[in-house]
Amino acid sequence: MGCDASVLLDDTSSFTGEKTAGPNVNSLRGYDVIDTIKSQLETVCPGVVSCADILAVAARDSVALLSGPSWPVQLGRRDSTTASFDGANTDLPSPLMDLSDLITSFSNKGFTAKEMVALSGSHTIGQARCLMFRNRVYNETSLDATLATSLKSNCPNTGGDDSLSSLDAITPVTFDNSYFKNLENNKGLLHSDQQLFSGGSTDSQVKTYSINAATFYADFASAMVKMGSLSPLTGSDGQIRTNCAKVN
Ligand code: HEM
Repeated sequence: MGCDASVLLDDTSSFTGEKTAGPNVNSLRGYDVIDTIKSQLETVCPGVVSCADILAVAARDSVALLSGPSWPVQLGRRDSTTASFDGANTDLPSPLMDLSDLITSFSNKGFTAKEMVALSGSHTIGQARCLMFRNRVYNETSLDATLATSLKSNCPNTGGDDSLSSLDAITPVTFDNSYFKNLENNKGLLHSDQQLFSGGSTDSQVKTYSINAATFYADFASAMVKMGSLSPLTGSDGQIRTNCAKVN
């Protein structure tokens, strides 16, 4: 629902959570990492650090540890007492979207197309399931033929929906600007990735970032600060959860 850790809540009798929404189910992972951080914090400093702040700091530190940029993370977010299954289904962009729908989806949350391109550079790390890019691998001519052949071995035409491939095939565990170089070489894994360099209005920005990593880092850091301030709960709103998966 915003930077309120609503995404971490399990279903309850009063609401269906976001974990089972289409874009998240069988996909979002790492809940165990957040739980470990939370339980260590509750031991040394109980009831002070929200799950929402943990997510914001973990995102920043993950990028920094993988040689990417760093940025200041404002703290004081509080955790939601509910979640929105419908919001997760309607508001998250799909990997099947074309550029205009991607732009609209980010604009609905107050982000410019420029910020969307910068934020998409996070696909320089991480993985995607075969289900998310099968159609691109088997049916799209805008995918590099050599990469398509190697992806097919791990993503058959039928079955293997959950088998993972790197979003950035060149440097999968380094936060660099190779995502943008990949796009210029038709090596975007998702349809939505390649849309950012497909003859449209965002091509020139992809070129800039592929040539200049420092510009990408600076724009990415600013956009992450902005994303980290999306509808936070503050003051006496919400709560500091004891267990990130459950309302107190
Ligand atoms: C532009 C619209 C976006 C679309 C359509 C999109 C879509 C996706 C999809 C389909 C996956 C793979 C999920 C799976 O197969 O399980 C993925 C992974 C990922 N996305 Fe995005 N994404 C977008 C923007 C972003 C943004 C703004 C960020 C963060 C700033 C981000 C960070 C990541 C990361 C880190 C992964 C890898 C996760 C992992 O390895 O577990 N994405 N994205």
